[in-house]
Amino acid sequence: MLYLSLKVLHLLAVISWMAGLLYLPRLFIYHHSVSVGGEASDTFKVMEYRLSRYIMSPAMMVSWAAGLSLIYFGGHNPFQDIWLILKLLTVATMTWVHIVYLRYVKQFGDDLRPKTTRYFRVLNEAPTLLMIGIIIFVVFKPFGVLYS
Ligand code: HEM
Repeated sequence: MLYLSLKVLHLLAVISWMAGLLYLPRLFIYHHSVSVGGEASDTFKVMEYRLSRYIMSPAMMVSWAAGLSLIYFGGHNPFQDIWLILKLLTVATMTWVHIVYLRYVKQFGDDLRPKTTRYFRVLNEAPTLLMIGIIIFVVFKPFGVLYS
């Protein structure tokens, strides 16, 4: 019961985190096309700040907390199960993407226009590809164990 409740929490948090990771670069692309100091620019600043501060970062922390609890209570071994090692590597990369996004939120907030819209279109694919990998690792649990 505890384990399944943690999994429900984990999945809810992960969905919220992913929604933000997929949407924020779209906001950066729209933000790029409006003039500095204008009303639209201010609106994008507020949207980016609130999305990252009140949804994405809390959702990331709950994803990690619930995910690590699932490792603990599920008896999974992060030094032995290859699927889990791969998942942790991809999730660490996802967390790094999140941190990079936070830097752009700050820069757009300071009226800078970091990178190009093309850059954000390409970067937008990163969470999608990582997400596909994570789901495959967690569902198929491929490659067995490192040692037995
Ligand atoms: C933030 C760090 C994360 C950790 C430490 C973590 C860890 C875990 C663990 C240990 C499980 C239980 C696996 C099982 O019982 O079979 C699990 C389930 C799951 N995780 Fe994560 N996870 C994390 C992030 C993510 C992310 C970012 C996604 C999606 C993009 C994700 C998707 C899932 C799914 C779909 C399941 C359910 C799998 C099933 O019931 O078969 N997780 N996670």
